[in-house]
Amino acid sequence: MLDDLKKIKAQALKEFAKIKDSEELEELKVKYLGRNGELTKLLKNLKDIAEEEKPKIGQFANEIKENLGEALNKVADKFNASNDSAEAGLVVNNLTLPGVQGQNGSLHPSTLMQYELEQIFTAMGFRVLEGPDIESEYFNFTALNIPADHPARDTQDTFWLEDGNLLKTHTSPMQVRAMRKYGAPLRAVFPGRCFRFEATDASHDSTFYQLEGLMIDKDISIANVIAVMKELLRAVFNKDVKVRQRPGYFPFVEPGFELDIYCLICEGAGCSVCKQSGWLELLPCGLVHPNVIKAGGLDPEVYSGFAFGLGLTRLVMMKYGIDDIRLLQGGDLRFLKQF
Ligand code: FA5
Repeated sequence: MLDDLKKIKAQALKEFAKIKDSEELEELKVKYLGRNGELTKLLKNLKDIAEEEKPKIGQFANEIKENLGEALNKVADKFNASNDSAEAGLVVNNLTLPGVQGQNGSLHPSTLMQYELEQIFTAMGFRVLEGPDIESEYFNFTALNIPADHPARDTQDTFWLEDGNLLKTHTSPMQVRAMRKYGAPLRAVFPGRCFRFEATDASHDSTFYQLEGLMIDKDISIANVIAVMKELLRAVFNKDVKVRQRPGYFPFVEPGFELDIYCLICEGAGCSVCKQSGWLELLPCGLVHPNVIKAGGLDPEVYSGFAFGLGLTRLVMMKYGIDDIRLLQGGDLRFLKQF
């Protein structure tokens, strides 16, 4: 009888190992442990064996019953676990539940600002173009009326590559590239990353973003620049912000202006961002120099235009009240998660 019990145990475990679903599990439970199951049937013969054998065989039979019961519980647990996760999967995919906060990444504030500006400008009929980060000396300087010996090159020191190219110091090279490609009339903005080899402080970084604007047509005047600048700032800040315009020198515009914004970090009181002046240099602009129009393949006798070079990173600082530009490239998630 002991052998028979062992055989039943081995056979049962073999079949339990192949159980595929809870229906099969129930069937095998009945087959081996049920009232008319294999084990119970065998134990019914217990009365026929010798009295002194009975306790030993009875104990062994109980152990087998327990073992098989445990084995079946394990299989049942396995099914419950996979059912649970299937259910959990359904819960995660339940679109009617509120979203899980803070699990996903988010757009960088400079990207948010770039998209916002792109929308504002496309609504005004500007196309959006992006240029290369690695630029030639010609497009970065020479084509912009900054020849090799011009002191203006020193104001935009950059990172030079061994092949003579450089990391672009401003987005202005796209003025000439765009004129060459699209001709006139032309309205375009060029968002892009700029690099300068300079010491960092609260408002200067070695990597920052600009958004260049260019409008080329017949009879473009300063009135067009001012109108577009005003529309831009009103759309970004949803209110009138104080600005001031002063003469500014850039070899690629004539006349040239600096448009400064009233510092929104300190409300004009003076802080490290505005270098205690209450004003922040934000938006240099001017009428495109005839030499640049020529470099773009157009006739400056026929066409004129305006260009501006918006400090996109500084605009982000003003919009969100960020008092140190280095936070933007610092990669600190505690800062970035706020946007
Ligand atoms: C230029 O880069 C010109 N290309 C702008 C221009 C375009 C003038 C078209 C006229 C016509 P400037 O070096 O001033 O100019 O830089 C333009 C803006 O970029 C600044 O007003 C400032 O907002 C931002 N900027 C410049 N350097 C940095 C820096 N290191 N960190 C952060 N922002 C900067």
